[in-house]
This record gives sequence, C-alpha cells and structure tokens, in this order.
Amino acid sequence: MPGDLRIQTGVTRGQPFQITVNGNAVEAYPGETIATVLLAEGGPAFRHTALSGEPRGLFCGMGLCFDCLVTLNGKQNVRACLTYAQPGDIVERQLR
Ligand code: FES
Repeated sequence: MPGDLRIQTGVTRGQPFQITVNGNAVEAYPGETIATVLLAEGGPAFRHTALSGEPRGLFCGMGLCFDCLVTLNGKQNVRACLTYAQPGDIVERQLR
C-alpha cells in the first residue's frame, strides 16, 4: 500500500553451512561474506601488518583498504569483505 511506513521485522536466513576458521568449525549463512563470519566468530583482527605487526580487520567494507586480508583455501591475501563464504571454506586469519 502506498505510504505504508511499517517497518519489517526479523531476518530470513537460508540454511546454515559450515566453514573452518583457524581450525575451528564455524557456522555461516548464504550471502554472508567471510568478514561477516569472522566478526560473528569473534575477534576484530583479521591479520597483523607485515612491518609493524599492528592488527587490522574490517575497515572500509568495500574492497578499497585491503585491511581485511585473510588466507582462503590456501590462497593468501583474499579480501574478506568482498568474498562470500562457501560451504567447506577453510579460512585462516593472517595473525602473527
Ligand atoms: S575492509 Fe577494506 S578492503 Fe576489505
């Protein structure tokens, strides 16, 4: 109905699936990025910088800053904010 400003409540999620984060089984949902799963799993640090060792994690959330790099299925430096979680993914935070 035009002009109807009711707010929809609730979120409909698909069937959960499992990925592995630093050796631990973690539940993810269709449409979630790796960054989302990592934040929900616990801990904002996705990596440490190579030179200073400072922690980095989700910052821009749109692929520009490269602060969210992780190792995904053996491939290093994948931007977690741009990558959807897939069943069976193996994610490693790039922490020192
Ligand atoms: S959070 Fe900036 S590139 Fe992913």
